[in-house]
Amino acid sequence: MKKFFLMLLSVCVLPLWVSAQKRTIVPGAEWPDNNGLHINAHGGNIIQADGTFFWYGESRPRGTHKAMPGISLYTSPDLVNWKDCGIVLSTVQQPGSPIEYGCVMERPKVVFCPKTQKYVMLFHLELKGKGYSAAMMGFAQSDSPYGPFKFERALRPNAKYWPVDFKRKDKKLAQKQNPEDYKDWWTPEWRQAIEKGMFLWRDFQGGQMSRDQTVYVDDDGTAYQLTSSEDNLTLHLNELTSDFLGFTGRFIRIAPGGQNEAPTLMKNGDTYWMITSGCTGWAPNEARMFSAKSLWGPWTQHPSPCIGPDAKKTFGAQGTYILKHGGRFIFMADRWMPKTLSESRHVWLPIEFGPDGTPQIIWRDKWDIE
Ligand code: GAL
Repeated sequence: MKKFFLMLLSVCVLPLWVSAQKRTIVPGAEWPDNNGLHINAHGGNIIQADGTFFWYGESRPRGTHKAMPGISLYTSPDLVNWKDCGIVLSTVQQPGSPIEYGCVMERPKVVFCPKTQKYVMLFHLELKGKGYSAAMMGFAQSDSPYGPFKFERALRPNAKYWPVDFKRKDKKLAQKQNPEDYKDWWTPEWRQAIEKGMFLWRDFQGGQMSRDQTVYVDDDGTAYQLTSSEDNLTLHLNELTSDFLGFTGRFIRIAPGGQNEAPTLMKNGDTYWMITSGCTGWAPNEARMFSAKSLWGPWTQHPSPCIGPDAKKTFGAQGTYILKHGGRFIFMADRWMPKTLSESRHVWLPIEFGPDGTPQIIWRDKWDIE
């Protein structure tokens, strides 16, 4: 009888459980890859090529506090079952290289460049031993989405360029703001000086800071990088060159002094939507949302799109990318675990649209990818 019952279980129930498991996303749960290890690709993005999904992300050392090996790749036929394909952009053992082992590579985004037929990766780069002070963008490219990616350069965006919408009076005002006039940060006067462009002018010659970032390719094929600049106080939308390997110098500031990071971007109909976070390091905070009819603005702020338990903390996570899949959108976020970053959880939720077209991210314990 016992034998029969076990057989019944394995014939009828187990396959059901396995197939259910294979289609289901469980936000915030451990997500094992083909080797049974939690997917170690954080702050990243996903692209599709030849029917395969490619997930790039930060590979954080497992169980140690050693430096990062680089950027990892996982592939999948269905967005649920993922195969570990190793490191596609490695840090190097070459002293003085911008990507010398010990550097920090964060928030990689890979996009296909039609002009060069290359896969281009942009990532936030912090130099070895310099904490988070370098605030640079790294560029790498590959002939294949499987990599390996060749490191091309690292730089700070838009040296010696003003935002495209800056008039003579705006430039003059920015040039008058001097960080030395403010002993204390975060006072109302200091914040006003930031809004007027104090850090923009401070970094004018050497290039603007660029930390958390995403890359977005618009309908006309122009690529943009949206990044947290000016000491994480102001977002910059930077146009990329046609090979996606540099900046044209055309950029705007968004929400000056608003302290936004973890930017993500999508377009639904004729409206661009941006979902960001506040700046509280690895700790979660409430998501912010902005919309515009043109990437060049004006951008209008809306309440957080999150609904459900812990919505005020973005479900304990911080956005990294909005994946467009079959006409729908998936919000990809990281629930950071700072002591064991490799184990940080992936929180993926579908983006729905309310009756007036406003995005909503409603918590679900689990959901089916189809
Ligand atoms: C977060 C940021 C992460 C990482 C972290 C470091 O605010 O979103 O990507 O840079 O800070 O503390």
